[in-house]
Amino acid sequence: MMIKEMISTVTEIPTPDVIVQQIISTASNPNVSAKELEKVISMDVGLSTKILKLVNSAYYALPRKITKLSEAIVIIGFKTVRNLALSVFTYSALHSKTTFVDHDKLWSHFMATAIFSEQIAKSIGYMNREEVFLAGLMHDVGKLAVDLLFPMYIFELSKVSRDLSKPMFLIEYEIGVDTHMEIGGELLRHWKFPEEYVSIAILHEKPSLNPDSPYIEMSCIVHLANVFSNIFLPGNSLSYGKPYLDQVVFKVLGIKPSRLETMYHELEIVFNKSKDLIFGGVEDETGVQT
Ligand SMILES: [Fe+2]
Ligand SMILES: [Fe+2]
Repeated sequence: MMIKEMISTVTEIPTPDVIVQQIISTASNPNVSAKELEKVISMDVGLSTKILKLVNSAYYALPRKITKLSEAIVIIGFKTVRNLALSVFTYSALHSKTTFVDHDKLWSHFMATAIFSEQIAKSIGYMNREEVFLAGLMHDVGKLAVDLLFPMYIFELSKVSRDLSKPMFLIEYEIGVDTHMEIGGELLRHWKFPEEYVSIAILHEKPSLNPDSPYIEMSCIVHLANVFSNIFLPGNSLSYGKPYLDQVVFKVLGIKPSRLETMYHELEIVFNKSKDLIFGGVEDETGVQT
């Protein structure tokens, strides 16, 4: 059986519960109201508390402490609250089992990529910023699946990447296994994420594989964010070596290579501002990690 096919049959991989499932479906349903989202999240007290903790992080720079979910939705927007709810789920999925992999580091790669995706979108005037954030957060979820199924394999794969100083996805191509991109796509499909997130997960290392994808712009933004995330936090993604930059991004996003320099500085500011989100993890009020 291929790894991809195992995704839906094994029990090692956490499945979103009903509440998280409903939150995911708000990502594809433009008719869901803020009130409905609030109702769903409120059913899980622990989840609300964790979301509020994230809302009050320095990244959002709110003038005062927000203590109610309804307020959070009004102030930072319901799509952002939805993203934070899915961040909580991803964080706990990532910490559901101890393996050879440093899950805090992998989490920081996920979160930095999400934040960078949003910032790049802002910088180039791309409208769907919240969708880009979520796509960035989920881009490498395939690594989580592989780690839960074959912990020794991904550990070794990461070691080879480090020893050869070569990005992990190129090694996956060379040895001819299911890549973490395809596996991630499969997992997101299994979790019932909308098709755009599936496509972006598949294309994030090399968007030029499908330049006609309806999600090519978002794929390029997440690709770029992933490259920068690997520059800011080398090795945290389990991948090493000089990050591969797909030249298609310049054409698709309409930017010049010289723009990357400016972008680096913009991202540096955001990175320093969002350290509590990137490195803080998601703890509840008692400080117990979940
Ligand atoms: Fe990746
Ligand atoms: Fe990545």
